[in-house]
Amino acid sequence: MPTSPSAKSVLDRLDTTTDDQVARLVDWLRIPSISTDPAYRGHVRRAAEWTAQQFTECGLRAEVREAGPVGADGKGAGHPIVMAFSDGDPDYKGPHVLFYGHYDVQPVDPIDLWKSPPFEPVIRDAQEGEEGGKRVIARGAVDDKGQVLMFIEALRAWKDITGKPAGGVKFTILIEGEEESGSVSLEKFVTDYQKDLGGCEVCLISDTGMLGRDRPCITYGVRGLAYTEVVLHAANQDLHSGLWGGRCPNPNTELCKVLSQLWDKKRRVTIPGFYDKVVPLTKKERENWKKLKFNPIAALKKIGLGKAADVGEAGFTAMEREWGRPTAEINGIVGGYTGKGAKTVIPAFASAKVSFRLVADQDPAKITKAFFKWCKDRTPPGCRWEFIDHHGGFGVTTPIDSPAMEAAARALKGATGKAPALIKSGGSIPVAGLLKDKLGIDTIFMGFGLDDDRVHSPNEKFEIACYKMGARSHALLIDELLAMK
Ligand code: BES
Ligand code: MN
Ligand code: MN
Repeated sequence: MPTSPSAKSVLDRLDTTTDDQVARLVDWLRIPSISTDPAYRGHVRRAAEWTAQQFTECGLRAEVREAGPVGADGKGAGHPIVMAFSDGDPDYKGPHVLFYGHYDVQPVDPIDLWKSPPFEPVIRDAQEGEEGGKRVIARGAVDDKGQVLMFIEALRAWKDITGKPAGGVKFTILIEGEEESGSVSLEKFVTDYQKDLGGCEVCLISDTGMLGRDRPCITYGVRGLAYTEVVLHAANQDLHSGLWGGRCPNPNTELCKVLSQLWDKKRRVTIPGFYDKVVPLTKKERENWKKLKFNPIAALKKIGLGKAADVGEAGFTAMEREWGRPTAEINGIVGGYTGKGAKTVIPAFASAKVSFRLVADQDPAKITKAFFKWCKDRTPPGCRWEFIDHHGGFGVTTPIDSPAMEAAARALKGATGKAPALIKSGGSIPVAGLLKDKLGIDTIFMGFGLDDDRVHSPNEKFEIACYKMGARSHALLIDELLAMK
C-alpha cells in the first residue's frame, strides 16, 4: 500500500516537531512512577494523569480508572489504569486495535551506579566507548514511557494533520501502572471492563526491542513467567556459629544445597513435569532464526563475557534458549550476615527469589505448585519452608501471517526502508497471555529498544533515532489500518 498524502504530511509533521516530542518525553520521565514501592504511590498516580492528558490532547476520550484496591493478600499495588478511546471514522473498515503500554518503571537501585539522577533526564550524544547517537538517559526512557510516547506522538501528528482522533482508526488504549510489578490487578480489570475491551480484535504493544539500530523487528512471541520466593527456616533465632556449627542445620547452606539441584548436568530443569507442556521448536523455526545471523559471542562481549560464557540448556543455540526454551533463575538470595566485615553467625532463615521463564502452554500456576512440591520433597532435616507466589503470566506466540501482522510489517518497511525481521523475545509481558486467554486476541509487539539500552539497569537510555523510528512506524501503521478492508 503506497503511503497516502495524509500520511506523508504526518511524517513531515513528525520530522519538524522532534524537539517538542523529546521535551514531552523528558517531562514524563521526570515523574518517578515506581510501581513496586508504596512510597511512590502519589507519583505513580501523577504519571497516570499525565498520560491521560496526552490522549485528551490528541482528541481521544481518556480516563484514569481505578484498578482496584490492594488485595487482602497484599498483592496488587492498586495503581490506576489509563484508558483512552477513538471511535474511528464511520467508514473505517480496519480492525479495532487495542494498544497496550505501561507508565510504571522499575526501581532505580543500585542508585550509586547512575551517572546522572534517574529522574532528571539527560539528553546527550554517545560518548567514547558507546555506540549509537543522541539519547535520553533516565529510568523508563525505553521501558516503557519512550515507547508509549512514540505511539502518542503518532496520534498527535495524525490529529494535527487530519483533525481526527487517531486519523480515523478505532483504538482502545490501555496504559497500566503495574506491569513492572507483575500486572497483578489486570486480570480483574480485564474481566470487569469486558464491555470496553471485548470488541478489540488485535493488540499492539511497543515494549520490546530490535536486533540492531538498522534492523527493525516485529516480535511474535514473549515468554511467560512464574515468580516465587522460598524461605527456609531453622532455629527460632540467629546462632553463634562456633557454639552451634555442626550441631544444627544452617539454612544458608541447606538452601544452597537444595537449589543447586534445580538443574541437571545438561542444565535442564529437574522439576518433574516441568517440560510437559513445552512445544518443541520446529525445524522451520530453527532455520528461520539461524538466518537472522545473530552473533551470541559478540553479544556476550558487550556485557564483559567471553566465549566460555555461552552456556545454557544443552542442544540449543543462545537464541533458541532465549526465545524458545524455559529456564529457572535465582534472582536473589539472602541469609545471615551480609554487612561489612565478618560476623560468625548461623541465621534463623535464608531466602531466595526463584523465577521461571515459560514457553508455549506451560501454566505459571502449575509450575509454581510443582516447584513448591519439589522443595518440600527435599526439606532439609530440622528445617521448614515458607512459600510465596509473587506473580505469573503465560507466554504467547502470535501467528505471523495475519492481515494485521502484514500491515505492521509494511508500516515498518515504509518507515525504515527495511523489511522487519521476525523475532521472539525471552522477556515477559503478562498482559499478552491474559488477552489471549480472556479475549482470544493476539498481540503484535512492535518495539524499538536496543540491546544496550540498559533496561532495568542504571543509566537506562532510549536513542532519539529509535524514538523517531517508532513514531514514524506507528504513524504509517495508522495509514495501513485505514486502508484495510
Ligand atoms: N518490556 C519488558 C519486557 C521485555 C523487554 C520484553 C525487552 C522484550 C524485550 C517488561 O517491562 C518487563 O520488564 N517485564 C518483566 C515481567 C514483569 C512481570 C516484571 C520481565 O520480563 O521480567
Ligand atoms: Mn516494559
Ligand atoms: Mn520492564
